[in-house]
Amino acid sequence: MCGIFAYFGEKTHSPKLVIEGLKKLEYRGYDSWGIAYKKDGDIAIHKEIGKIGDVHNIEELKDESKIAIGHSRWATHGGVTQKNAHPHFSENKEIVLVHNGILENYLELKKNLEKKGHTFRSQTDTEVIAHLIEDYTRTHSFFDSVKMAMAEMEGRYAIVVMKKDEDALIAARRGSPLILGVGKKHGEYFVASDIPAFLKYTNKVIYLDDNQICTLKNGSTHFFDTIKKTDVQKRIIEIDWDIESAEKGEFPHFMIKEITEQKDTLTRAINQDPETIKQVAKKIESAESVFLVGCGTAGKACMVGQYLFSKISNKQVSFAFGSEFENYKNFINKKSLIIAVSQSGETADTLEAMEIAKGNGAKIVSIVNVENSSMARMSDFVIPVKAGQEKAVASTKATTSQIAILMLLAYACDGEINIGKQLLVNAASQINDMLNPRYEEHISKIAEKIKHVESMYIIGRGENYPIALESAIKLQEVSYIHAEGFAGGELKHGPLALISKDTPVIALVANDEQKKNIISNTIEVKARGGFIIGVSPENQEVFDYWIRVPDVGEASPIVNIIPVQLLAYKLAVLRHVDPDKPRNLAKSVTVK
Ligand code: M6R
Repeated sequence: MCGIFAYFGEKTHSPKLVIEGLKKLEYRGYDSWGIAYKKDGDIAIHKEIGKIGDVHNIEELKDESKIAIGHSRWATHGGVTQKNAHPHFSENKEIVLVHNGILENYLELKKNLEKKGHTFRSQTDTEVIAHLIEDYTRTHSFFDSVKMAMAEMEGRYAIVVMKKDEDALIAARRGSPLILGVGKKHGEYFVASDIPAFLKYTNKVIYLDDNQICTLKNGSTHFFDTIKKTDVQKRIIEIDWDIESAEKGEFPHFMIKEITEQKDTLTRAINQDPETIKQVAKKIESAESVFLVGCGTAGKACMVGQYLFSKISNKQVSFAFGSEFENYKNFINKKSLIIAVSQSGETADTLEAMEIAKGNGAKIVSIVNVENSSMARMSDFVIPVKAGQEKAVASTKATTSQIAILMLLAYACDGEINIGKQLLVNAASQINDMLNPRYEEHISKIAEKIKHVESMYIIGRGENYPIALESAIKLQEVSYIHAEGFAGGELKHGPLALISKDTPVIALVANDEQKKNIISNTIEVKARGGFIIGVSPENQEVFDYWIRVPDVGEASPIVNIIPVQLLAYKLAVLRHVDPDKPRNLAKSVTVK
């Protein structure tokens, strides 16, 4: 979703630097981009529709400036046009800003400003913020104007603001990520919506918290909390991400790099501080109600968790997608426990669910990949996923690690954390053997056979039912093939009507108590002409094509999703879709 990058310091090539920073944020997804910088006492703006492309072709790269802001836009309010791209000017072009998130009350604010004589050049909510700030600057300082505008702004957002006649940058956030990079040279700062954008320059960061404003001026920083109405002292955190892990290396795409990394990531996920796991397990045990919350793929990991808690620890745990959680708020109180699952730790719907739960007094646990993310910072307990940066829009390595952690917790609730660990260690070593070039080649052949199909289906039972749903997401988002997942037992209640000659159906057949039933469901599909791709430790007569997965007992959801991730990737490549940046999607969904 939208990306922000800004530079403030002594480097004179800030326009170039900002464009390069925006390029590093490309994985978040965007449809237009733009920069603004100080030039000859004025503000210069350059905006374009589409991708940044080859940076060397951009004229503005050569302009000299020490302050610049940039933005990659994923359209929400107003179509994909140059006018709607950020940065946005205020009425008199005194103020220019970039913005992530949604200004929920923009129509109301716009009407008031129009009454005062303001005219708007774009259809965006963002432009309203620029006008609002400028309106205040007529009677107040730059800093106070941003503060007063924030008091009127509703919704989740992050902004970086520049003023024509001030050598300063102001950054502020409420609910949308914004991080400050502290440069190596004194007085040099970067502001970005994600760390990889400035990792090349610094690994020292300051996380801006909700409702905080940061002013960069005269080579120093000033932080202010708009709720407590006090200055705040912020801590500089040194992060240990390396640049290499933020790059593709020898792989053609991040998605295949990240699928392959599952050889190691599971081992890292299992390697948790046993005390944290035991403490969280205790909380789960003593809570009156436990809710798993997540969105998209993280939501599917939660659904697997529900089955695992029920099967392994005899514990009833509820699940809601972040966007649906509000409907259950009447059941959330001081004795409830919320377990939020997320790769980015910044998903707006999940964050909002956490806020609702917190408001009702519940305790919060988060299982997040991005340490120090908003979710991590608002949780009572954090279990790090440790999968390393995940850049492809399609989540892969974070998912299997999230499921592993939920399994560890389920075993810990049963007082058998070591059994869970052993099971997962075995699964990790089997995945290491499974992911080899021959295996990939085998999956490529299936992809070649089905690359022109219009629809395909995935079936599973028990904890492999959510994996059928997750398989569908993977196939949809990167291959653009219509894919749907079903519980095997549900087929005869409707979906069977969709099967005709050669409809591909992936059957997830684990070696568990559901095996006989899911094989029966597969036979029902075959009888209607379906082309069966079996994902299973053993070949079955009913399979037209067999993808072998190791027999890892209860960890089957973890190994079963991996060949489908590979199949989705291979299909994307064969169908000439960029698997890392699927159309209409963004890596971090920071708007509701
Ligand atoms: O960062 P999160 O895990 O909270 O993201 C949640 C979903 O947006 C995410 O899983 C999405 O569904 C992925 N694109 C799926 O691959």
